[in-house]
Amino acid sequence: MKKRKKVAILTGGGDCPGINAVIRAVVKKLINEQNAEVIGFKDGYHGLVHNRHRKLNYSDVSGILTLGGTILGTSKIANPYRYAVKNGKKLEFKDMSKTVIKNCKDLKLDCLVCIGGDGSLGNANRLFEDGIPVVGVPKTIDNDIRGTELTFGFDSAVTIATSAVDCLHTTAESHHRIMILEVMGHHAGWIALHSGIAGGGDIILVPEIPYDINEIARVVKARNKKGKRFSIIVVSEGAKPKGGDVVIKRMVQASADSVRLGGIGFVLGKQIEEVTGLDTRTVVLGHLQRGGSPTAFDRVFATGLGAKAGDMIENHRFGYMVGLKKGAFVEVALKNVAKGSRTIPANDPLLKVAKAVGTSFGV
Ligand code: F6P
Repeated sequence: MKKRKKVAILTGGGDCPGINAVIRAVVKKLINEQNAEVIGFKDGYHGLVHNRHRKLNYSDVSGILTLGGTILGTSKIANPYRYAVKNGKKLEFKDMSKTVIKNCKDLKLDCLVCIGGDGSLGNANRLFEDGIPVVGVPKTIDNDIRGTELTFGFDSAVTIATSAVDCLHTTAESHHRIMILEVMGHHAGWIALHSGIAGGGDIILVPEIPYDINEIARVVKARNKKGKRFSIIVVSEGAKPKGGDVVIKRMVQASADSVRLGGIGFVLGKQIEEVTGLDTRTVVLGHLQRGGSPTAFDRVFATGLGAKAGDMIENHRFGYMVGLKKGAFVEVALKNVAKGSRTIPANDPLLKVAKAVGTSFGV
């Protein structure tokens, strides 16, 4: 008798709305169309290292479409090639890839589906090069993964950030204040750019365009003169001044990318008050952007990505990730994805759009 196809799913890196929608689509498609057996590794690569997994039957993924987070758990630290272990108070790093490969072989996996950001997909690519049949699905609110024009979770994060800008507008106007909203995005300014445009922000600051504090001061003062006695600034956590550096919130030593950004909003607020004398307040939106139910768009998109991943498993397109190009699902080699993150290019049409409606980028 022919062996039943066996597929494992793992979710790695920071969570975001829509992961469960992808898991659901992959599992349902594999069961419906390929009579496959599906399991899920728990807590990202931790589960793969320690062989901790659970069955994913049809009933396990029923009713999770609208659920935020990931039913499998995730980790931003676990990396099979640089696995952090505590030796007393000291942190040591071990290469656990041989254990991971053995676990996959012992389980007789026909494919490992990795739903992750650039770090997790980079590890997926290394596992593929080491002989594991892997299919990737890009995931992050930051929208910064190479090889795809969009990641699921981004629309949900932008929707949350936009509603925060909307709320800040009324209080900014009432108190004649400058309100700063700091959003996530890592070293890419996509969330700030989209939510800034959607919320009608007066100034949008992104990592890709280092700002000049004097220009920001000029813009808010000019608005005041015109009778607009408030300003809304949307700043990306990775934004920095010209010739300056990012603001670091914390270092997570166990993580391959140990820097956690955050705090630029407060630095900026203080500088603006000093230079302009205008009352300024800062709100850091933080992990709210990663929480809650996915938007309708993300549910549809995530379902499409999951279904396409199912096709790729059937067609043995291992070493590839599902991507979106000009509105169509495409297959992108994981080795190209692992080359770094996708930031806003200088010729991005949205930069022009924002400028056309008078938005400043602080330069
Ligand atoms: O990559 C997703 C993200 O939310 C980034 O926007 C942010 O810089 C980072 O993760 C925050 O990491 P943590 O969840 O470890 O605080």
